[in-house]
Amino acid sequence: MDKQTLKNLNEQFDGLALSQSLTTLTSVFKNQRIVFSSSLGLEDQVITDAIFSHSLPITVFTLDTLRLFKETEALITETEARYQQTIERYTPNEKAVEEYIQTEGLNGFYESIDKRKKCCYIRKIEPLNRALKGAAVWITGIRQEQSKFRNNMQLFEYDSERNLIKFNPLLQWSTEELWDTIRTNNIPFNPLHLKGYPSIGCEPCTRAIKPGEDQRAGRWWWENQEQTKQECGLHTSQVTK
Ligand code: ADX
Ligand code: SF4
Repeated sequence: MDKQTLKNLNEQFDGLALSQSLTTLTSVFKNQRIVFSSSLGLEDQVITDAIFSHSLPITVFTLDTLRLFKETEALITETEARYQQTIERYTPNEKAVEEYIQTEGLNGFYESIDKRKKCCYIRKIEPLNRALKGAAVWITGIRQEQSKFRNNMQLFEYDSERNLIKFNPLLQWSTEELWDTIRTNNIPFNPLHLKGYPSIGCEPCTRAIKPGEDQRAGRWWWENQEQTKQECGLHTSQVTK
């Protein structure tokens, strides 16, 4: 993937409304595998609504780490029922989970960054790599506002480790725009968002935030934030911008 192609894509899609950008994406990458990873967060629900409402040829999947909040589990079922379409679930390799629990303990991730990354690798990264197999484009719900690390991401990036194009259609959306879209279209959302959880991951690794804190302050809150950038590794592979 050369920089000029990326630049062209970024220019072509700049300023497009969400459904228009997703529809255009499916024609630019016609007959190629396009996948969308949903964590069932607010951003993801807005994208899912656009995909399912227009029956776009995009596979929607979630990484079910088996440590999700019960509210997130319920939202998967509710969303599938609402749109009568399937969110594919990718679960971790059972043997790897068993070995982790035996060697590090069920919640060994609180003890060190290495142990946390190992758990995220088993429960998220390895299943993600399976879900992305053969995909030309990977859509995510990343927004610049979410953290300073995400502030310099682009609409289109090239993930050289996975050899695919990453598309972040909500990159420049504000939290307010998200809520407006959720309410206007009556899109189902996680009730935890109303209880101080702007960013929701696995249950043992997510807490509510206090007023004034960063949106991602509740993720892996016990770690040194500068060191880990509060990322689990889903979005830290080498990219060309
Ligand atoms: S994370 O890296 O910290 O977990 P975050 O929760 O901010 O990510 O979500 C950013 C984007 O990553 C989501 O919009 C979604 O595309 C993807 N993502 C995160 N968690 C999952 C998950 N469990 N399943 C599928 N996609 C996910
Ligand atoms: Fe494991 Fe926590 Fe990472 Fe979930 S967020 S995979 S429970 S370390």
